[in-house]
Amino acid sequence: MTTFESITRPQRTDDTATWSAPPQPAARAGFDFDVAIVGLGYVGLPTALAYHGSNSRVLALDVSERRIAVIRAQQADLLEVDQARLAVALDHPGFVLSTDPDDLSRAAAVIVCVPTPVDEHLIPDLTILRAATAMVVEHAVAGQVLMLTSTSYVGCTDDLLAKPLAERGFTIGADVFVAFSAERIDPGNASFDHDEVPRVVGGATAECEEEATKLLLRYVTNVHRVRSLAAAEMTKLLENTFRAVNIALANEFADICRSLDLNPADVVDAAATKPYGFMPFLAGPGVGGHCIPCDPHYLLWQLRKQRVAAPMITQAMVEIAARPHRVVDRVQEVLSAAGTGMLGTRVLVVGIAYKPDVADLRESPALEILDELIQRGATVGFVDDHFDAVTLPSGARLTAVTDPAAFGAQLVVLHTRHASADLGFIEPHQLVLDTTYRGVDVPQRIIL
Ligand SMILES: NC(=O)c1ccc[n+]([C@@H]2O[C@H](COP(=O)([O-])OP(=O)(O)OC[C@H]3O[C@@H](n4cnc5c(N)ncnc54)[C@H](O)[C@@H]3O)[C@@H](O)[C@H]2O)c1
Repeated sequence: MTTFESITRPQRTDDTATWSAPPQPAARAGFDFDVAIVGLGYVGLPTALAYHGSNSRVLALDVSERRIAVIRAQQADLLEVDQARLAVALDHPGFVLSTDPDDLSRAAAVIVCVPTPVDEHLIPDLTILRAATAMVVEHAVAGQVLMLTSTSYVGCTDDLLAKPLAERGFTIGADVFVAFSAERIDPGNASFDHDEVPRVVGGATAECEEEATKLLLRYVTNVHRVRSLAAAEMTKLLENTFRAVNIALANEFADICRSLDLNPADVVDAAATKPYGFMPFLAGPGVGGHCIPCDPHYLLWQLRKQRVAAPMITQAMVEIAARPHRVVDRVQEVLSAAGTGMLGTRVLVVGIAYKPDVADLRESPALEILDELIQRGATVGFVDDHFDAVTLPSGARLTAVTDPAAFGAQLVVLHTRHASADLGFIEPHQLVLDTTYRGVDVPQRIIL
């Protein structure tokens, strides 16, 4: 068995939607599709398009008719390169959108990309993943490669795919092939080509690892193999826990810098000139999206069962969860220093997505910040090119401010700065609280 080996596919020459991919391995006999993607969200849809772009016949499956309609209408939140791929795919018989799980048995491989959130108590909510894997197991047929890419706890692929498939009578590694390979996509970030980001894969057996590697190499250029499903699952948890802990540290360091009258961004930029042993992380108003606020909780949840303590990770997640509340405290402090209380003061939040250039509100700190500002008596508004309205965790519904100059904000909170954001409405007399630490072109800004 080959272990810890990196395997590279020949580089392609052109990265447009119409590039000519290297010849693909022959599909398994008897299957209409080379691969089925289950769950067409921020991860699954670009994955389906990447497979199609490399000459695979793709079944793109989602339970949501609404999501399929959004994709058909080309209104999904995608990078330009994926929009182009989608336009090509929608006109091609080798790309089939479906909501019918019966179609799964027509695919040589099935890749599961469904959400793995946490509930309001920060406990992993496996409902969606359990339903999706149960559906995949129910429709599994001999010869298929079944791969989980959703981030989850260590042992999840075994619990939700390998064991139930064995209970159905399949011999894993001979009849069907089970693997885990977490997705590493960074939605909204065009700097890294999805297909060029190496993938880590672990199989239930050596044969599973082998088949899963071939499946990944249909579109990615580099696959790193680890010796088990669990090692691959843990790799993803390390990646995102690493980010969480470092973001918590960056936030703490930013607070320390401010108390010493230093600009945190300047200090981070200076430290980042060191070519080794340092990686810059930026402080901010908190973390959002479907990874950093959630994934480390999958690990902590699992460790609680084992009675294993992880105090540093726990503390990082506590700090991260508290960050939006700190932003509101800081708003209060800034307004008090300006001689205005919170009550009735007009506060405009700029950018409510959890990060620039995505239309994704999941776990966005802005939602909590807006809610708490309202609770403390402020009159709030928001602007964000991606959203006309938002429902806050409290249930309050806010409509976007259409004329930010006319809103007359006494304080502007820079939360997320999309490339398209126009800050031209900010008047020199207006207070600006910069939670991005990077709004250097707003001279009157106060850093968080
Ligand atoms: N979003 C990211 O930045 C990112 C990056 C890397 C990894 N991940 C991981 O990838 C996984 C998927 O995340 P996402 O952001 O793409 O989720 P998402 O919410 O954007 O999309 C999930 C899709 O799955 C569909 N779905 C739910 N149940 C289904 C079922 N039973 N069958 C078919 N479709 C079903 C939903 O309708 C939805 O369209 C998560 O585990 C996440 O942690 C996410």
